[in-house]
Amino acid sequence: MEMTDGRIIKPLPKSGMTFEKIKEDLSKLELPDPYAHFARAFRGPKDVQEVGKYAFERFMSDNGFFSLYLPYMQTIEQEVIAMGVSLLNPTETSTGNFTSGGTESNFSALHAARNWARDHKPHIKKPNIVAPFTIHPSFQKASRYLDIEVITTELDENGRGVAANIAAAVNDNTIMIAASAPSWHYANIDPIPEIAAVAVDANLWMHVDGCIGSYISPFLEMLGEKLTPWDFRVPGVMSISADLHKFGYCQKPASTIFWREAALQDYHYVAIDDPFLGPYKLAGFSGSRSAGPIFAAWAVFNYLGEEGYLRLARRLLDLKEKFTKGVNAIEGLRMWDVDVMPLHFHSEKAPTSAVYQGLLDKGWLMLGLVNPEAITIAADAALSDEDADLFLADLRQVTEAILAGGTAQKGDIRYS
Ligand SMILES: Cc1ncc(COP(=O)(O)O)c(C=O)c1O
Repeated sequence: MEMTDGRIIKPLPKSGMTFEKIKEDLSKLELPDPYAHFARAFRGPKDVQEVGKYAFERFMSDNGFFSLYLPYMQTIEQEVIAMGVSLLNPTETSTGNFTSGGTESNFSALHAARNWARDHKPHIKKPNIVAPFTIHPSFQKASRYLDIEVITTELDENGRGVAANIAAAVNDNTIMIAASAPSWHYANIDPIPEIAAVAVDANLWMHVDGCIGSYISPFLEMLGEKLTPWDFRVPGVMSISADLHKFGYCQKPASTIFWREAALQDYHYVAIDDPFLGPYKLAGFSGSRSAGPIFAAWAVFNYLGEEGYLRLARRLLDLKEKFTKGVNAIEGLRMWDVDVMPLHFHSEKAPTSAVYQGLLDKGWLMLGLVNPEAITIAADAALSDEDADLFLADLRQVTEAILAGGTAQKGDIRYS
């Protein structure tokens, strides 16, 4: 039934469809590989996906609600936390929590920092946080839930935050400084040691958004890449968000939030004593949740081990080189220099948004940036050389056609 405003109200089918028909209908919706590869990011190679899928399916109907109490699930979740935090140069009591994604991990950090500030800076009634301009929008979102102001500061010419700008923006109502390792926007790591020193001086909570970097940078460093220190080895870093469903190659939705000291984790928990139900204290924001992602993360961690993650990090470096050479070899296109991932490029001759539209027309579902305009290559270790070559060939064709005076309809570049 169509409503006056165009909405459709559709009744449930009177009698259910067959499983066959459901499979048939759903398979028509599936996004085609490799064209949807970059929008599906991030995935490990097929064998890694199979391992995660096996564990996910076996435990998807179990309720992660009980992860702080039921021993079989508690052990698995705690092992994921223990293995995750081991990568971040932890202190003796560093620990963490499993969450549904980067947004929830960043929300959890802000929430804990706000509670911490109520103890340590009780005069603050209108809290704010200070961060470089490239801080992920999940901070703006979480801040709206929590009624916190976000003050953003200018970057340097390489798209990194500047400690002096942050120091200048801190005021009497600041509770936290947040920075990225790396940011999505420029994929560069902010100067965390300098920024954390500002936080230490002003007695502020320092959070590092390591959603992209936390499960890839430790392995890049083991391979000899020189990265700005960004984890708990930096004095003052109090929390780090780290997405399992990005370069941890675990099934979505899965992320982790780590606390420098166990005592900081107390600011995360919300313990309710319900008059009818008794104590109500859960691992994170969700109530009932599938235990599938927790078991999948455990399975993927154990399947890959350090050697597996190193192999995938090496593969990512090879892809980075391949894309960088391939994109820069196309007239007018420039790949950006990035510390980690994702890759971004822009066009100096044909409008970037027209190249973006050309790729969409060829079926490539791409993400991008609007200011400055850029196209994002969210490469992961599941991408084959053949698929990367196909993408580069299409990109060349699209760009050359525009430069030769073909149609150049500008697309609507989107990150989300
Ligand atoms: C730096 C950074 N932080 C946070 C997020 C949010 O992660 P999610 O989409 O898993 O909530 C992203 C997502 O791309 C990100 O790049």
